[in-house]
Amino acid sequence: MRLSKLDTPFYAVIGDPIEQSMSPAIHNACLQQLGLEPRYKAIRVPEEELDKQVEWLVESGCKGFNVTIPHKLRIMDLLDDIDPYAKAIGAVNTVEIQGNRLKGYNTDGPGFYRGLSDFHQGNFDDATVLVLGAGGAARAIVKTLIMKGVSNVSIANRTVSKAQDLLEESGSEALSISAAEQRLAEYDIIINTTPIGMYPKEGSVPIDLSFVSSKSTLVDIIYNPLLTEFLRIGLERGCAVQNGVPMFVHQAALAFEQWTGKEPDIELMKEIIHEKLGGKPTC
Ligand code: ATR
Repeated sequence: MRLSKLDTPFYAVIGDPIEQSMSPAIHNACLQQLGLEPRYKAIRVPEEELDKQVEWLVESGCKGFNVTIPHKLRIMDLLDDIDPYAKAIGAVNTVEIQGNRLKGYNTDGPGFYRGLSDFHQGNFDDATVLVLGAGGAARAIVKTLIMKGVSNVSIANRTVSKAQDLLEESGSEALSISAAEQRLAEYDIIINTTPIGMYPKEGSVPIDLSFVSSKSTLVDIIYNPLLTEFLRIGLERGCAVQNGVPMFVHQAALAFEQWTGKEPDIELMKEIIHEKLGGKPTC
């Protein structure tokens, strides 16, 4: 892809696919609200074009960009500096450009934590937590929870060895999905980090919820649809549920703060997402 040089400073999100991204809508609305120029663009960058496009971003006056699938790991090779927390997580989703220097951050884990803290209105350090999935998102979430003092974190994954690998560095117990199904009632908070139930394949669940306790909180990091089948069944069983909107807006807000030094309007971000996904917030 050939991109022309831009004179005005701008922000971006790079990934592939990128057409579905809601980041431009929420960032631009907040930039505008704060009297800044709404210039946040989604740029499709296939895997093989990452180096070239990052070079272009630097030359073109980009001040910072978000990084999404499939570049969160590979981008680290192209940076001059990586924040220690992002280094510990092993993935970068936010890059700040100062002059020609690129510094990487990870706002996914802290974004998730902020969302969960708001929901619990305070301390959940003693909660027993089950994380479903052991990919990049699970990694950011598990590491953040443990760094913040939530020590009882177990992971259930289709490939148990991946859950085990993640736990070697942190956490309590690696389980198969079927073992976790039998023991669901033990967990205060159950978090889905897999893509199961995400648009356009709504309707499936990452785990059978027959044994879930009504005292548990179910959290899905998926925000499209706003109410996944996992959360719908949870509601039916009397659980408290939280969808992926809080994590998404808080990771965006943390990147925004890093780049502009200003706090964006989280509620405005949420409204835009709910508007785009058709409907009132259900959770
Ligand atoms: P992300 O970076 O978004 O976390 P990822 O690294 O590809 O994405 O991880 C996806 C997670 O969802 C993995 O834990 C994956 O399980 P495996 O480790 O066994 O691959 C899980 N996952 C994806 N599709 C799945 C499916 N159809 N059934 C069960 N687990 C699935």
